[in-house]
Amino acid sequence: MDSRIEELPELLSSSDLDRMRRACRAAADMLWHVAGYLKPGITTQDLDDVAVAWTTERGYKNGPLNYYGYPRSICTSVNEVVCHGIPSPKVKLKDGDIINIDVSPIVDGWFGDTSRTFFVGTPSPAAKKLVEVTEQCLKKGIAAVKHGGRIGDIGKAIADHAHAQGFSVVEDFVGHGIGRKFHMPPQVPHYFKERGARLEKGMVFTIEPMINEGTYRTRTLKDKWTAVTTDGKLSAQFEHTIAITDKGVEVLTLRESETYPLA
Ligand code: MF3
Ligand code: CO
Ligand code: CO
Repeated sequence: MDSRIEELPELLSSSDLDRMRRACRAAADMLWHVAGYLKPGITTQDLDDVAVAWTTERGYKNGPLNYYGYPRSICTSVNEVVCHGIPSPKVKLKDGDIINIDVSPIVDGWFGDTSRTFFVGTPSPAAKKLVEVTEQCLKKGIAAVKHGGRIGDIGKAIADHAHAQGFSVVEDFVGHGIGRKFHMPPQVPHYFKERGARLEKGMVFTIEPMINEGTYRTRTLKDKWTAVTTDGKLSAQFEHTIAITDKGVEVLTLRESETYPLA
């Protein structure tokens, strides 16, 4: 088997793109539903319970559960946790924490994937700046998606902004193609590595920059999932699933009321 063939991104038909739109709309609604429960004193397990109730009521499943052995239905990454934080009754949120909630529901066999970093109570000025810049990085990455452009343009736009603001960009985790599978080609680095594959109509993938206050380096805890900054400083992340259509870039993981200002 020619491995180069397997690495080609799948291009979706317009009817399959409609199926992805539904899964991604569900992901956006689910994310904000779960975030509505954030307050000092609740645990990240409480958030997982809310997520499971929401998907179960609708007959949806959760991509993370049992994915290569992952034990919960969402990821909850607090403060120095970069990504893949496992919800736990031992992790109680307190005033001033930042937390990324990452949800990936499966709707009729299609995966949506979105995350945001939220404040618990009142953030420190440093945490506020990191989280704001990280959301800006996602927007810059999305704005860099153009017909005839390349995958590498995305990471370049993200890294230029993060570095100009004095932050670093995680390299150990990347965005990814998504559809009937959770993670597919192409890989979407959030830093500049190479110009990479051409962006084409029908491609659907995530952009999910993880931006750090200090070092870009990460390590994984003994639970085999939780990735943390090696210096213990803060990390933030925002994620959208996007599609390339005739009209350009479409952000799929928005709620009905939202539009996407590409500023
Ligand atoms: N939602 C994550 C992503 O954005 C993946 C989580 S995989 C898990 O790609 F197994 F950790 F849940
Ligand atoms: Co993702
Ligand atoms: Co995700």
